[in-house]
Amino acid sequence: MEAEGVRILPEKGEARGAGEISPLLRVKGVTLEYAAQKQVVRAAHRIDLDLYQADRFVLLGPSGCGKSSLLKAVGGFLKPIEGEILLEGRPVTEPGPDRVVVFQEFDQLPPWKTALENVAFPLIASRSLPRREARERAAHYLEKVGLAGFAESYPHQLSGGMKQRVAIARALAMRPKILLMDEPFAALDALTRRKMQEELLSLWEEARFTLLFVTHSIEEALVVGSRVALLTPRPGRVRAEINSHEWDLSSAGGEGFQSTARRIHRLLFEEEPSAEASSRRAA
Ligand SMILES: Nc1ncnc2c1ncn2[C@@H]1O[C@H](COP(=O)(O)OP(=O)(O)OP(=O)(O)O)[C@@H](O)[C@H]1O
Ligand SMILES: [Mg+2]
Repeated sequence: MEAEGVRILPEKGEARGAGEISPLLRVKGVTLEYAAQKQVVRAAHRIDLDLYQADRFVLLGPSGCGKSSLLKAVGGFLKPIEGEILLEGRPVTEPGPDRVVVFQEFDQLPPWKTALENVAFPLIASRSLPRREARERAAHYLEKVGLAGFAESYPHQLSGGMKQRVAIARALAMRPKILLMDEPFAALDALTRRKMQEELLSLWEEARFTLLFVTHSIEEALVVGSRVALLTPRPGRVRAEINSHEWDLSSAGGEGFQSTARRIHRLLFEEEPSAEASSRRAA
């Protein structure tokens, strides 16, 4: 069994020329807790992550291991009780237009705004662009996600997949430094989910944004990610990190893909030899 926190392959420096580029986002020793009814719930424990420009970084782990909490912390909605989060070297202390989140729920769009108004609104509200230019940019991104013909539709007139496309267009239109996605395709049927994963990859090919993507699907992690961090059950700790050099993206059914999926499965679900169990065995 791999030791906790092991970096399997390859070392980050290998791909980038060691030490040349500093990370876009650093999560340094971050612990997250919630105070709930006289009891404190630790959601994540001393997490270290470095994301570089244009990484497609996936957080993969079982339900309740703190993935969403980590995303909230990067978004500036949850303050670490220890450690720090740095974006381009500056501490994250509050939400900002440089970090935009796409959630799983289909109801993240105000229902009284059309698709176009939904995409344009944050640009106008954050004073990133004047109204007319915001609408132009919104139309551009709606076209990118294949919804040029639905600009004037209201959310209730769109399918779940289409609503997620609007949410993605809205996020990309902000041109954030980092796009945060929390299981954005989990509520879609399998075929639509697959299609959306492919669309996300082609949007990335075009725009090379930096992505932090949460899922508990091993397959989705391997399709979407260029780097995958495996988290332990709550409180989440980084158990291992793997890099897309290890599998072949061109064939989801290929041997590299399947063997990596099996290895991740073992790392996620086979019991870690706990200190208690080893001392029992020693006795
Ligand atoms: N607002 C909150 N108040 C109290 N505890 C919370 C709160 N939000 C999350 N938690 C707890 O923190 C832990 C991590 O939750 P989190 O939502 O980050 O997990 P997750 O990995 O995203 O799970 P899932 O895959 O089910 O979405 C859980 O035990 C959860 O009960
Ligand atoms: Mg979650």
